[in-house]
Amino acid sequence: MRIDTKTDIYGIIGHPIGHSLSPLIHNAAFESNNLNSVYVSFDVYEENLKDAILGIKALGIKGINVTVPHKENVIKYLDYVSDEAKLIGAVNTIKNNNGILEGYNTDVTGFSESLKEHGIEVEGKNAVILGAGGAARAVAVGLSLAGVRTIIVANRSKEKARNLSTYIKNNLGINCIDVTYDDLNQLEEIDILVNATSVGMSPNINLSPVDENVVVKAKFVYDIIYNPEKTLLLSYAEKCGIRNLNGFDMLINQANHSFKIWTGVNFNRSIILNILKKKDF
Ligand code: ATR
Repeated sequence: MRIDTKTDIYGIIGHPIGHSLSPLIHNAAFESNNLNSVYVSFDVYEENLKDAILGIKALGIKGINVTVPHKENVIKYLDYVSDEAKLIGAVNTIKNNNGILEGYNTDVTGFSESLKEHGIEVEGKNAVILGAGGAARAVAVGLSLAGVRTIIVANRSKEKARNLSTYIKNNLGINCIDVTYDDLNQLEEIDILVNATSVGMSPNINLSPVDENVVVKAKFVYDIIYNPEKTLLLSYAEKCGIRNLNGFDMLINQANHSFKIWTGVNFNRSIILNILKKKDF
């Protein structure tokens, strides 16, 4: 990689930020597209968010990804926010368009595209979302754009489950109820089961948000976690012979959409996938 006075700077802000795969993905993408650009991580504390955003303009940084915990709070510092990012209430991609900071959300498209790519029918189906945080909200928006009929939100904190189900009903216009994990045992059939919690993520790979007796009711299981590649939840699905998908494609798709917003072109998926597959998480 050549770094000189013309190198464009991109990066990611979040806290903590050490685990992010985005620098690996985007630097490989810049290199394979012969772009004189570099992507770095910035560990930004909440109290420094405003200064960090002003710094994007001041330093002429070209683009920024935003991750936990800043995706919602960043919105008030931007000059323009896309309709989709407004709907979900979170921005994960900022483009510095000649001093105008534009906010986008590529998590939703990343998720819904992965469903399409794998031929998962969502139209008219029911879905259970495990979790009620930012990722669960992106999943809910993605499912609603894909035509889901009803959503059941199950979460440890009842209050957060209630908040998300109210949002789904009021903002997305989808039938929704919120339940506890135990309530899921009462369900007869689940068309689509999505894990949007962090339960089962490395290093806690021996945990699953629900047991096999819930998984067995599902026709399709999606775990948005990509590390490990096969969570305990997905191994239950496999054991029961149920189609399943991990979060790898969603990760690649959201990164590709950010890359396209910044550069106008898609990156080469297979180059990026090969690099990620070689990485020892
Ligand atoms: P993100 O932006 O990744 O969604 P988040 O907003 O912090 O992050 O949400 C994390 C989700 O994982 C929440 O649904 C959280 O449940 P609570 O709302 O009850 O906290 C869920 N989660 C995290 N650790 C969990 C655990 N040990 N058991 C059950 N749920 C857990």
